[in-house]
Amino acid sequence: MTCTIIVGGFFGDEGKGKIVAHIAHQDNPTIIARGGVGPNAGHTVQVGDRQYGVRMVPSGFVYPDARLCIGSGVLVDPRVLLNELDTLDAHRRCFVDFRCGIIEEEHILRDKASDHLRETIGSTGTGCGPANADRVMRTGRLARDLPELQPYLLDVPAAVNAEIENGNSVLLEGTQGFGISLYYGTYPYVTSKDTSASQIAADIGVGPTVIDDVVVVFKAYPTRVGEGPFSTEMSHDESTALGLQEFGTVTHRERRIGAWDGEMARYSAMINGCTQAAITGFDKVDHACAGVTEFRRLSPRAKEFLRDAEADIGRPITLISTGPELSQIIDLRAEYCT
Ligand code: GTP
Ligand code: IMP
Ligand code: MG
Repeated sequence: MTCTIIVGGFFGDEGKGKIVAHIAHQDNPTIIARGGVGPNAGHTVQVGDRQYGVRMVPSGFVYPDARLCIGSGVLVDPRVLLNELDTLDAHRRCFVDFRCGIIEEEHILRDKASDHLRETIGSTGTGCGPANADRVMRTGRLARDLPELQPYLLDVPAAVNAEIENGNSVLLEGTQGFGISLYYGTYPYVTSKDTSASQIAADIGVGPTVIDDVVVVFKAYPTRVGEGPFSTEMSHDESTALGLQEFGTVTHRERRIGAWDGEMARYSAMINGCTQAAITGFDKVDHACAGVTEFRRLSPRAKEFLRDAEADIGRPITLISTGPELSQIIDLRAEYCT
């Protein structure tokens, strides 16, 4: 039984949603809790022909048997949350820590009206930066103050730690990615909080000594939305020629595309305390890998990519995602038991 954190190793949108959903189906956690900034995140999970996009509800929702919790570090936009709960019919199994900060309409207006945030930084315009600023100024509202959130309030750390003490598995999901961490990313082109594994644990109220595994998710071809340095970025022509076009889940902006960045992967694995890594978008490295679920069926070229990436990361790559659909994955975790 394990307490696992899942975080993004590059600039966000690595496909954490899919990895969380896969691990949940394998490990049967009793709670899936999310940390991270707030509704600036967008996770896509595809099951069969159905594609879901969530911004507030933990992306492990496709696994039906876990309670879904939002940790106190996360900013909640009640309009986005209640709308997702309606769409997913998840009202009875989703809980919000009573200390979560609240995004009000005014925060969204401030985010969108700020040339600095919208134009220079390229924020998502979801109000996260201004809401976190108010939280730090201690003028913001909390979830416990809102009548519409009363049915969902919970002491999330108490619930998560009780499951861990009872020997059950829990999944702690991060959002965003290492390169847009307020502390370790490409400041000022970053989001409004740290995004590393330690922050995710703190967001949910789980101490560092009870974490068993930190899965850092890397994208074979990293992407970045918004402004800021991206050392391995390709030209638009180059990425289009490779068939690598992508659009954001939240803002629908075109994602900038880059090549694998070994130096960033190593540094990010270090700060996240990576115990094992996941690689997504592997079907883009070699189209012959699309949908493959067995390691031995990967092409020599794909295996070479994995060997090099593993050397960069310095930890085993135990999950290899070969397509957007939930079942398109090679899971080697049993072979590497930590
Ligand atoms: P943030 O919390 O916003 O950082 O998002 P995320 O890490 O959950 O990723 P997001 O869902 O925004 O973006 C990943 C995209 O890649 C989605 O459209 C997924 O469906 C897709 N995806 C995930 N794994 C794979 C894969 O192995 N191959 C391909 N082709 N697409 C993938
Ligand atoms: P903000 O978090 O909306 O203030 O945006 C600040 C920067 O972080 C911008 O470059 C955004 O594009 C980026 N960002 C925020 N959340 C995500 C995410 O979930 N995935 C990818 N980029 C993000
Ligand atoms: Mg995303």
